[in-house]
Amino acid sequence: MIQATGSQKSWDDMEEFAVELCSVWYSPNGDHHILKNIDLKIKRGTCLALIGPSGSGKTTLFKIITRFLKPCSGSVIVRGSCGSLEKNKVGYIPQQLGLVRSLTALENVLIGAHSRIGLAGTLLGVFPKKEVELAAKYLNMVGIGHKAAKKVYTLSGGERQRVAIARALMQQPEIILADEFVSNLDIITAREILAEPRSWR
Ligand SMILES: Nc1ncnc2c1ncn2[C@@H]1O[C@H](COP(=O)(O)OP(=O)(O)OP(=O)(O)O)[C@@H](O)[C@H]1O
Ligand SMILES: [Mg+2]
Repeated sequence: MIQATGSQKSWDDMEEFAVELCSVWYSPNGDHHILKNIDLKIKRGTCLALIGPSGSGKTTLFKIITRFLKPCSGSVIVRGSCGSLEKNKVGYIPQQLGLVRSLTALENVLIGAHSRIGLAGTLLGVFPKKEVELAAKYLNMVGIGHKAAKKVYTLSGGERQRVAIARALMQQPEIILADEFVSNLDIITAREILAEPRSWR
């Protein structure tokens, strides 16, 4: 369970924050609360790590911010450069990655463009050339451009993590939420990936 931190800051400076949670409570069944009275403000342009024991509610908090889950009470504001952010402008790298194993790395990254391509195009695998080029660019950026045509089930854990990062970048998000996205990696690869977020912009 994540407990309230009791932010002391004034609410006058709201606009400088990309994410603001105020008195958020969440329970999956209306009984036991996983999140209790959470206040959280994340400034624009910052890189923040959320650390806590297993089962403490980190993934739940991410799902509240991405609006996959609705809080029982409290307010959630996710703000981009032009005001309130649409859901698809928040790039989410889930703990389990959520890749389609039977598709190639490139095809998985292209799924990140679904809000621009449309559901039909995404399902049929019909992608405009410029989106394919963009997907290839992001795969290169995370260091696995040479694996673009490989099926995901043939990739290593670290390579899959990178595909998931590239897919999130493909959304051209203003905010990226990455949930334990290096937890299964060896220390060298984890360090390499953790050094990257600032260069993703
Ligand atoms: N839909 C649900 N119904 C009931 N309990 C749930 C549900 N989702 C999460 N929980 C419980 O809420 C708690 C927090 O889960 P959550 O996945 O947010 O933890 P976490 O901090 O991300 O853990 P980990 O570090 O292991 O990933 C856990 O005890 C989990 O069992
Ligand atoms: Mg988790």
